[in-house]
Amino acid sequence: ITMDPSLPQAVKCKIGKLKCAPAEDGGHIGTRVMLQGWTHRLRWESKKLLFLELRDGTGYIQAVMSGNLCMTKDALMLNREASVSLYGTVCSDERAKGGMELHVDYWELVGSSPAEIEMILTHESNPDILLNQRHLVIRGTKASAVLRMRSIITQCFREHFFANDYVELAPPTLVQTQCEGGSTLFHFDYFGEPAYLTQSSQLYLETGIPAVGDCFCILPSYRAEKSSTRRHLAEFHHIEAEFAFIDFEDLLQRIEYLIADVVDRVIEKGGDLLQVLNPGLKPLKRPFKRLTYTDAVKFCRQHNIYKDEATQTHFEFGDDIPEGPERKMTDMIGEPILMIKFPMTLKSFYMKRCPEDRALTESVDVLIPGVGEVVGGSMRMHDYDELMEAYERENIDPAPYYWFSDQRKYGTCPHGGYGLGLERFICYALAQHHIRDVCLYPRYRGRIEP
Ligand code: 4AD
Repeated sequence: ITMDPSLPQAVKCKIGKLKCAPAEDGGHIGTRVMLQGWTHRLRWESKKLLFLELRDGTGYIQAVMSGNLCMTKDALMLNREASVSLYGTVCSDERAKGGMELHVDYWELVGSSPAEIEMILTHESNPDILLNQRHLVIRGTKASAVLRMRSIITQCFREHFFANDYVELAPPTLVQTQCEGGSTLFHFDYFGEPAYLTQSSQLYLETGIPAVGDCFCILPSYRAEKSSTRRHLAEFHHIEAEFAFIDFEDLLQRIEYLIADVVDRVIEKGGDLLQVLNPGLKPLKRPFKRLTYTDAVKFCRQHNIYKDEATQTHFEFGDDIPEGPERKMTDMIGEPILMIKFPMTLKSFYMKRCPEDRALTESVDVLIPGVGEVVGGSMRMHDYDELMEAYERENIDPAPYYWFSDQRKYGTCPHGGYGLGLERFICYALAQHHIRDVCLYPRYRGRIEP
């Protein structure tokens, strides 16, 4: 086949930018365009008529090829996921997605795709096969929609922070300090020195507040989590923020504002993608319900949520409420909860004690129905001597933390912050059951490829 030189020059376009309106109204109907992408679906209507759904990352369009165009060797050998350049005229067609169709007058194969593509992924493929073939799975309609929404959701977080005058910082992720306990640290050799992959950027963000004021970061954190549940990853994206000269009430309000405001932004920006994935996402009612740890233990006891189902053992004050029971409680309550004031013994070394009861900390977890904990935050100990005692109590060598401790030596101030698990938030916003489905390439125990 050859291109007809008498046809108007084709304009190179992205599918997502095509406008279903006549050219005189700034649209593309009647315009000759060149589109490049991948064959998402193929349907042979007859030997001389092929419907090809083209995908280019920005959208999908149905292309119609007829006559000689679909009688070439390339056409006969065409499979899903081949890359192509299509030249043709955009026509309006009410039956087509987006109201438009491309009537192809010339096309070129860019990269072929073998027929085995149909055998690699089938409806029967088990989750492990799907994860091994994740590089192909992400081309699918649903997986690619989730990835595009993930980008929009991340943008909504950034916009929330910038609209509220936060500065974005970039703490290192290769570190020599622990933030959330030794049991989930990934150790590695850093040019001969022992080091870890960061569990949280919090300690570094704390040092940023006297430099730039309110600050945030969106970076990976790492946890050597032994359990592989539907909400645990070994590498996750952590949205963390830190503020100076606040009290515990300010902290709770900022967390609530963050979540409610980002949900509003996602609803506004999500468009068709959100409508397909989770049309049920609604603005959140504020204020969120608050529940102290002490009352949560009482709630579990009253509602027969057990520490140990088998023996029907009740929770006692001081017990950690693990994932299963915590989610049961959250789902029973059925709305976001700010769970506050955990016992000191359950929380990290840096958390400030409650002035009214020093066995408790000014700490908060946000629990969301269907997902569970999405945020952990607290006020930080800002007294130097108290921090030194905490290191001792937790058997932590203060030497590598000198820069963090210095924060309490040079102009200390009351401060606090939080960390939100981006993937868990996405599970909530997009109503996805499994955290692995919202990652490009998930990392968890037993999986480090692709
Ligand atoms: O509660 P965490 O451990 O708190 C911290 O790391 C604090 N230093 C954060 C801070 O105050 N700056 O973790 C915070 C959140 C959790 O609520 C959860 O959403 C997410 O990080 N998270 C994980 N997400 C996926 N997989 C894991 N293994 C996660 N561990 C924590």
